Amino acid sequence: MKTNNSASIVERMVIPHTAFAEARQRIEQCFAFSAAKAEAEGLAIVGESGTGKTSVLKSFQANHVPMRGPDGMQIPILYASVPPMPTVKSLAGVMLAALNAPDCERGTENEKSRRLRVLMRETGTRMVMIDEFQHFYDRGKRRIMLHVADWLKVLIDETRSTLVVAGLPSCRVVINENEQLARRFMASIQLPRFSWTDSRQRGEFISILEEYHNQIAKDFKVPALHSDEMAFRFYLATGGLMGYLSKLLRTTLRDAADRKRASITLEDLNIAHSRAMWFDPTVQEQLKPFERGFRVEATVDALDRASRVGTIAEPPQMPARRRAGVRKAESINSALVAA
Ligand SMILES: Nc1ncnc2c1ncn2[C@@H]1O[C@H](COP(=O)(O)OP(=O)(O)OP(=O)(O)O)[C@@H](O)[C@H]1O
Ligand SMILES: [Mg+2]
Repeated sequence: MKTNNSASIVERMVIPHTAFAEARQRIEQCFAFSAAKAEAEGLAIVGESGTGKTSVLKSFQANHVPMRGPDGMQIPILYASVPPMPTVKSLAGVMLAALNAPDCERGTENEKSRRLRVLMRETGTRMVMIDEFQHFYDRGKRRIMLHVADWLKVLIDETRSTLVVAGLPSCRVVINENEQLARRFMASIQLPRFSWTDSRQRGEFISILEEYHNQIAKDFKVPALHSDEMAFRFYLATGGLMGYLSKLLRTTLRDAADRKRASITLEDLNIAHSRAMWFDPTVQEQLKPFERGFRVEATVDALDRASRVGTIAEPPQMPARRRAGVRKAESINSALVAA
């Protein structure tokens, strides 16, 4: 009988593919030299949703866990995720919480900033990781973007820490808002989705499938996930995104465990694919690459559709009367925001 343990094989695996390992290595280098550096440094990890940005940060953080020292708790890496609709004050709040500060929501922005600097010194924080950094751009308020960029520059200068930000490509705008912050940043690290037409990336995608296969095959009878044909089906299904690949395999294993099955077939993958993926009906009809009878051919259309997996289509135009109503509501909202 398959246990929950077998079903969570995929969850427990972190595959250090080239871009992932390079990103981790660049962070490691900044971290290793952080004590001796002449000035504060910044590093940005940029990529589409599901390319593994948070996983890189978390796997690095896991190697530098907090420890109790003679002067109390040492927290070498502060990891914080930017809340939606952020302000500098709310960011300072989540950063204080990451350092286990009591009452982290209390105080003005200045008070929080002061407490944060003191705590960072006390806990020996050498690196600040800020995930979901694009939320400062999404907020659409230039004033807040300018302010956070300036605030971060001052924070890392004063604490001599290294700043690592991660986010969707739009997060670059926030760094570019402040030339002094931008000067402290190294070249950004890209985490791309795998491409099928680039032979090196295709090879890497296939190797990742082989690693998953080797682990899964210990507990389940499974077709070779890394054969050229199966790998191409996986590519079409996931668009070369690690997030979708791991989700598809996770769902497949959970279904197998639920049904107490020891083998996984093409049909099981087809069912898991239709259950695991968000299908946007306004994008063209999605491919069903695990369906029996599917023609496994690298056509321009198939590759084009795969390249759009995980992207969201523009919202459809609303009927004219409804649009007028929305415009009215929007202008009321913007009047409130401006007030
Ligand atoms: N190298 C990897 N090995 C194994 N699993 C991975 C790897 N990279 C990503 N994943 C898995 O893919 C999923 C998405 O990864 P992650 O959350 O790191 O992406 P992200 O780039 O932070 O996405 P978002 O922008 O939506 O936050 C997670 O379930 C994660 O475990
Ligand atoms: Mg993330």
